[in-house]
Amino acid sequence: NVWTLATADEIDSSNTQLMTRAAQGAPHGLVLAAERQTAGRGRLGRRWQMPLGAGLTFSALWRFERGLSGLAGLSLVVGVAMVRALRSFDVPVQLKWPNDVLLDGRKLAGILIELSGDALGPAAVVIGIGLNMASPGEVDQPVANLADAGYQVGRNALLAELLNQLADVLATFDRDGFAAFHAEWTACAAFLQQPVLLRFSHGEPVEGVALGVDDHGALQVATAAGPRVFHVGEVSLRAA
Ligand code: BTN
Repeated sequence: NVWTLATADEIDSSNTQLMTRAAQGAPHGLVLAAERQTAGRGRLGRRWQMPLGAGLTFSALWRFERGLSGLAGLSLVVGVAMVRALRSFDVPVQLKWPNDVLLDGRKLAGILIELSGDALGPAAVVIGIGLNMASPGEVDQPVANLADAGYQVGRNALLAELLNQLADVLATFDRDGFAAFHAEWTACAAFLQQPVLLRFSHGEPVEGVALGVDDHGALQVATAAGPRVFHVGEVSLRAA
């Protein structure tokens, strides 16, 4: 087993903590699971808050053997690992680009990936996952949770399966890149061939039809002005 699990009752953010420890040389495979975060962070600078006991909240440190050219692809394959784990408990989830996990079209879980250290050397990433087990956290869109949707899944069992799937997927991604997951990601994706709205941290939103992802995991969109490609980190997608 590649993982070493540490737990905390209350911390600011498991991602923040693990980023600090990564810079101090923490080992590959360190996982930090938190009962409660006082300053949980979401993508695009948003906050991630969950009532005590309502969520599964953890971060994992993965040191790649090579430099990471495709952070976009990494973001998507972590979503694939989550789909595999949740479907093994018969929870029929889908993915919303880049990596929100949806249940019945509503957000069940989010993923925050941060790069630690030098982007040119062997890459170390912190992969943070927040999943609504019971009453949902406060997020920017309609949310789902396992309990209210009628799924009885143990939190420890789910964490163990998520870590199993993550180890498998990350090892394959390190070796073969996103191409190895292109078909599986596409089969899990919500919103393909549908009208979508892309919102940026800065600038005007863009409307179009989501076509799919390229071999780097970037989203291909048909817009009135022609085809465009969008990269992770700048943008969030919703149904138009
Ligand atoms: C998002 O959908 O915006 C991503 C949410 C990621 C939340 C998790 S909870 C564990 C880890 N620690 C954090 O501060 N954030 C991530």
